[in-house]
Amino acid sequence: MKAPWRGRKVLVTAGPTREWLDPVRFLSNASSGKMGYALAAAARKRGARVTLVTGPTSLPLPAGVRAVNVVTAREMMSACLKALPGTDLVIGAAAVADFRPRTGARAKIKKKADGGDLLLRLTPNPDILRTLSLQREKKARPVFAGFALETHRLLERARKKMHDKGLDLIVANGPEALDGGETRAVILSRDGATTRFAGPKTALAEKILSAAEAFL
Ligand code: CTP
Repeated sequence: MKAPWRGRKVLVTAGPTREWLDPVRFLSNASSGKMGYALAAAARKRGARVTLVTGPTSLPLPAGVRAVNVVTAREMMSACLKALPGTDLVIGAAAVADFRPRTGARAKIKKKADGGDLLLRLTPNPDILRTLSLQREKKARPVFAGFALETHRLLERARKKMHDKGLDLIVANGPEALDGGETRAVILSRDGATTRFAGPKTALAEKILSAAEAFL
C-alpha cells in the first residue's frame, strides 16, 4: 500500500449511460465498464476510499468500493456532484452519452402506418468532467483525470480535451478501447509527460494511478 493513497477520496465514473427514447428503448454505446472498474479496484488496493459512479454493466463490484448505480448521464452528473465534496481525485472513465432524446416518449413509439422514417431530435447532455472541474476550489483539489476517445488526430485532440475540461491528465485511446480487456493508450499529463501503453486494462489502471500520484 502506497502512503500517498491511504485515506484519499477517489471518485471514478464508469460504464455507458443510457438515454431513454421510450419506456423500452434507449441510446447507448459499447462501453463495458472494465476500465473504470479496474481503476476503482486499483485505487482501493492502494488504500484510497473509492466511490464508483457506474452506468449499467455486467461487472462485479470490486471489494471495498462504494457503488452508486445510475442509468442516464443526468443521473451520473447529480451522483458525482453529491460525491464531490472532499474528493482528492476524480477519474472520468465513463462513456457518457453526449446527447439524449429531446422528448422521451412516455408511451412506446409505434411504427408509422405509412412505413415512413422516424426522426429523432437529440439535445446535448451536460459534460460531467467539465462541470465538476469548474467547481474546483482555488487550491488544486481535486485532481482530475479523464479519457479521450478519438478516431482521428488522437494526441492533438486529447491535449485540447485535457485543456478544455480542466484536467491534470488525460488517457488518449481509440474506439477499440470501448470493449475487451486489452487496450492501447497514451497517458498525457498537463506537465507535458507522455507515457505509451499497450496491454491489459488492469495494468493501464496502475499506470494511470501512478501518473495521477504526481499531482496528489
Ligand atoms: N465526459 C463527461 N461527460 C460527457 C462526455 C464525456 O464527463 N458528457 C468525459 C468522459 O468520461 C471522458 C472525457 O469526458 O473522460 C472525454 O470523453 P470523450 O467521449 O472522449 O469526449 P467528449 O467530451 O464526449 O467529446 P467528443 O464526443 O466531441 O469527442
